[in-house]
Order: sequence, then C-alpha cells, then structure tokens
Amino acid sequence: MFIAQEAIRAKRDGNSLTDQQIQQFVSGITEQSVSEGQIAAMAMAIYFQGMEEREKATLTLAMRDSGEILNWQSMDLGGPVLDKHSTGGVGDVVSLMLGPIVAACGGYVPMISGRGLGHTGGTLDKFDAIPGYQTAPDNTLFRHTVKTAGVAIIGQTGQLAPADQRFYATRDITATVESIPLITASILAKKLAEGLDGLILDVKTGSGAFMAQYAQALELAQSLTSVANSVGVRTAALLTDMNEPLASAAGNAVEVQLAIDYLTGAHRGERLHQVTEALAAEMLLLGGLADSRQQALGLVNKALSSGQAAERFALMVSTLGGPDDLLEKPQQHLAQAKRVKPLTVKEAGLATSGFVTAIDTRAIGMAVVALGGGRRMATDALNYAVGLTDLIEVGSPLHADTCLVTIHADNESGWQQAAAMVSKAITISEEQPAAKDMIYQRITE
Ligand code: URA
Repeated sequence: MFIAQEAIRAKRDGNSLTDQQIQQFVSGITEQSVSEGQIAAMAMAIYFQGMEEREKATLTLAMRDSGEILNWQSMDLGGPVLDKHSTGGVGDVVSLMLGPIVAACGGYVPMISGRGLGHTGGTLDKFDAIPGYQTAPDNTLFRHTVKTAGVAIIGQTGQLAPADQRFYATRDITATVESIPLITASILAKKLAEGLDGLILDVKTGSGAFMAQYAQALELAQSLTSVANSVGVRTAALLTDMNEPLASAAGNAVEVQLAIDYLTGAHRGERLHQVTEALAAEMLLLGGLADSRQQALGLVNKALSSGQAAERFALMVSTLGGPDDLLEKPQQHLAQAKRVKPLTVKEAGLATSGFVTAIDTRAIGMAVVALGGGRRMATDALNYAVGLTDLIEVGSPLHADTCLVTIHADNESGWQQAAAMVSKAITISEEQPAAKDMIYQRITE
C-alpha cells in the first residue's frame, strides 16, 4: 500500500524516491487522495533535497501521463510535430512569429501556451486581444487548424497534465516554485503531452527573466534538455538575453501589432529577429527539416521574405475564429488605448545626454501591469489595449527630446504612473555600452 508520508519522509531525509513512489504520489495528486498539505511537504522536501536525473524523468512522465497525450499519427501530417517553450519575459512576442515560420517550412506546431502573471507577459493573453480568436477551441478545431495552417496556438486544457495544475497551484502558495527539478517536470509534462517530435527551449536570463541569474538559468536549461532527451524527445535549449525587453513593445494588442509588422516586413527589430530566427532554425534542425544551421536560417528567412509565414499566421487566426483581414487592417480590429502619448527624456527628468546603459526589465513589465495590461493575481481581468511601444534600447544615445517610450494608457493618471515607472527603470551614463549578442549559449544533451 502507498503511504504518502513515507515517500515525503524519504525525500525529506535526502533519499532517492523509487519510480513507484513517484508514480503513486502523482496518481494521488490527480485522484485527490494526496492532500494539499502532503503536496506542499513533498514540494518543500524536493526543494531542499533535489532529485537525481532518473527521479526527474519519472516525475515528468508521471505528470505527463496524468492526462491526455495528443497523438498526431492518425492525421498523416507529413512533417515533424515541433514546439517551443520560453521561460518568459517582457516583450517576448516570439511565439506569434515562430509558429507560423516553422509551419511555412514544413513543421507542425500545436502550441499550448499560458497566461501572463506578474511582470512577464503571456502568449495566450496576446491572442485574446484578437477579437473572435478562440484560445479554447474544441479538439476537432484545434487539430484541423494544426493540419491546415500548420500551427495552432491555444490555451492549456484541463485534460493536459492535470497533476501539474494541482501541484503548481500548491507550489505557488508555499514558496516552492523555485526548484529546478519541479520546474523541469512541470514545464516538460505539459509540453510532452503535446505529442512532440522535437522541442526547443528558450531559457531567458537577465533582469526581466524568471531565472535572472545566469548560473541558475544554465542549470535549468541543462536539466530541461537532459530530461527531455532522456525520455525520447529531441530537445535543445538556447540561453537568451532578457536584460531589456526583447521587442520594442510590451502589452497585448500592441505586441500583436508588432508581430504583424514583423511578419509582413513593415518593421523587424534586430534583437527580436536574432532570437526568433535562431529558435526557428533550431526547430528545423530538431525536426530534420534542414541539415545545417546555415540551410535552416536560409529557409527561415525565405519563409519571411516570401510572405508565407505571414500567410500561415493569417490562416491560423481566421481558422480559429479571428478576423479574415487582421493583417491588412489590424487597427480596425485591435483595441486602441484612450491616452497614447510619447514620454521624452526631458519629461522623464533624466540626464539629457549620454547613453542608455541598463533597463530594469522587470520594472518595465510591472509598468504594463500597472496600466492594466498584466495581472497581479491570476483572477485579474486585462485591458488589452494598454501597453508600451517605441521602447528605447540599451546603447541608444539620448537628447532632451528623445522618445523613451510611447505609453498607451486608459487615462492620464495611468499614463503618469507608467511614465514614472519607466523613467526609474532606465540607467544612463556617459559611456556607450558595447553591443551584445542575444544568444549566450546553446545547450544540447
Ligand atoms: N512554468 C511552469 O510551467 N512551471 C513551473 O514550475 C515554472 C514555470
């Protein structure tokens, strides 16, 4: 007979759990025979004692198997099933372009994404900013969209890795989220339930990242790649910069607009492009759609320049219930904020010469939350129209009338509050910082 407290005691005392103990504990989470107190105690024991590779893999698979696992074999897709997970950040709009790019190159991307909480934005909230777009379609429509558009970006369903939902909710209120084994199992259980052939991980590091410290981000990337590969899904990770917002916009409707501009070629920010094309190329390599990085990069850029990636995005949006002409007339469909005004260096009260040397990216994310574009609590409703655009970059020279950001607010007091937060987040000095590479490291098994 399985006794949860014996498994908790074993882990508390620094022993390894057997596969059976882990599997039975996870079954108990799903079936509610393990109490919230026991989940909390086990999470804390794992937090302090850690887990070896085998334990992490068993926990991942047990959580994956707690619910439905998508199976694409019967659909005869004719290409690899691929996805990306990002640990999140500010202005991380990559998924909106990456999925369509990979689809245009012959991959299939059934991307299950999450909502934002705290300073980081959530992909799902961005799609909720598109009128009519169904982020919770039924299974038939989801599969049909993957088959026809090659990409469908939707929300988590209760059927996918339900053990993680209960486990995570308890970790969230017991200060046990920050455990590499638990994060590894939580992220991978959901991604592996998508029935993937290949997975790329974008593990961010820097002032706006979930894992701000480089060493921690590297440890997470190594843990994720080794566990995912050990359970049979070809996986690699890129460690990427989140020391400033990735895109020049942060918010929901404003990030959708930015993604459209990127896909149509109207505007393609350099840092965002570096990360997007690198992740897309990795996905093509993982899926066997390219033999070399150079070939993969060529395919990615052709998907963009030919307009095929933009077409995939448009098809995904219309198939999932969004407007047919979103790419042609985004302003007609995306909500516009009531008070839209730039903030200059002089208005911000900053030094009127020099260079931007650092941006507190977490604070920028919190400015979006203060505007109403992000959540303090999971139950908060969002204002999709608000956000930031034209965000200044690290390294930019400053003059009195340089625009730091354009703030999209609901009213003047919201604008003023966001202006004060952004002003405080920017560090200026006389010396221009050296340009940096966005990709710090590539991690394979
Ligand atoms: N994201 C997840 O999905 N799970 C974690 O544990 C942490 C971040």
